[in-house]
Amino acid sequence: MDKMWAGRFSKALDKEADDFNSSIHFDCKMYRQDIEGSIAHATMLAECNIISKSDSEIIISGLKGILADLDSGTLAFDFDAEDIHMFVEAELTKRIGDVGKRLHTARSRNDQVALDIRLYMRDEANEVISLIKKLLGAILVQAEANKEAILPGYTHLQRAQPIMFSHHLCAYAMMFIRDIGRIEDALKRMNFSPLGSCALAGTTYETNRERTAELLGFDGITLNSIDGVSDRDFCVELMSAFSLVMTHLSRFSEEVILWSSWEFKFVELDDSYTTGSSIMPQKKNPDMAELVRGKTGRVYGDLVAMLTILKGIPLAYNKDMQEDKEAIFDSVETVKKCLSIFAPMIETMSVRKDKMYAAAGEGFINATDLADYLVKKGQPFRSAYKTVGQIVGKCVAEKKTLETLTLSEYKEFDELFEEDLYQEIDLKNCVEKRISAGGTSVASINTQIEYIKKFA
Ligand code: ARG
Repeated sequence: MDKMWAGRFSKALDKEADDFNSSIHFDCKMYRQDIEGSIAHATMLAECNIISKSDSEIIISGLKGILADLDSGTLAFDFDAEDIHMFVEAELTKRIGDVGKRLHTARSRNDQVALDIRLYMRDEANEVISLIKKLLGAILVQAEANKEAILPGYTHLQRAQPIMFSHHLCAYAMMFIRDIGRIEDALKRMNFSPLGSCALAGTTYETNRERTAELLGFDGITLNSIDGVSDRDFCVELMSAFSLVMTHLSRFSEEVILWSSWEFKFVELDDSYTTGSSIMPQKKNPDMAELVRGKTGRVYGDLVAMLTILKGIPLAYNKDMQEDKEAIFDSVETVKKCLSIFAPMIETMSVRKDKMYAAAGEGFINATDLADYLVKKGQPFRSAYKTVGQIVGKCVAEKKTLETLTLSEYKEFDELFEEDLYQEIDLKNCVEKRISAGGTSVASINTQIEYIKKFA
């Protein structure tokens, strides 16, 4: 296939170099954005009398035809084309003749690709937000159904204090709400059109960049044409935000994997989100959660690739920037797939409240409450803490629990202990007493759930 730029050359590009240079097999993903941008550009060119109204109409209907045919699959990509921009332009000229050759007036592939990526990222970032919202919905279903299920809260993966399962789930919701905020913030900063920056220096034609920006739903235009074609900061910002979404999903996955292990048995994943083993008939493996945890590394890798592509390139456009796309696409697709598998996996898992409660009954997780009991009776916290430490030591040595130690045994440690201590260390009471804002009491969780609902 003859290159559009072949005029300056006396011989064709080497076959291997041609393949190496080509990006159509991956940037074809942006065909919708590319055509959408071209339609806006052709509209503006006519409004500014740079091309005639009738040429613009022929171009636009040609572009719409290509879009419809690509959408329906009746038109296949020509993988001999250099990139998506060249493909669409060549197809247009094939369909409408020489008029098609007027489309690329006052435009370069440099601002075209900068525009396409922005449009693609904007579309996809909004998709990611709606998938996060679905996940928040799934978290809410489980939080409301298990609002008062008590389990041990852990620090250092050691049983620490009793908490509500809903409280634990709401912690993840808070992370995902921040993720939405980060994506929205990046979307605001990036929503300016680079179209019309042209190759790097702007153009001699009297174009109207604000008009194309408006047609494409931007808040305005980029103010420096060199920056307009060179900027991929928005990709870094969104890929960072996606990396953090993956970090949160990965931590959540790790807990789901632990919780569904034989050792914990706090939850059981639905059969439709687990797999069996080829040799061990009893196995029910949490593969989806493991894959999400594993894919997190890919999304981080995509971000590092993007940063590395940018770090050494001089202004303005350099072909290195073509390498941004596979990283961007992989990051977007991975985070979307992970979110969409995660939400139903969480929503359909069954929660073993009995197992959680039984685990909460072991490990002295009400020891802090026992120390607080002594504090309320007048002991300084440090002394109370030391006394309870000794009591736990005795229980461990004598295989007793705080609940089974008798009052007279308690009194050997401190005369302040009375019968009401047992009520004080009752797990339900321990949880209900944590009324501080953000704490594990039902009242606090209700406030959290109301807040989360605003985002779901
Ligand atoms: N395929 C190219 C890319 O993805 C499009 C821009 C090419 N511009 C150029 N001057 N070669 O970056």
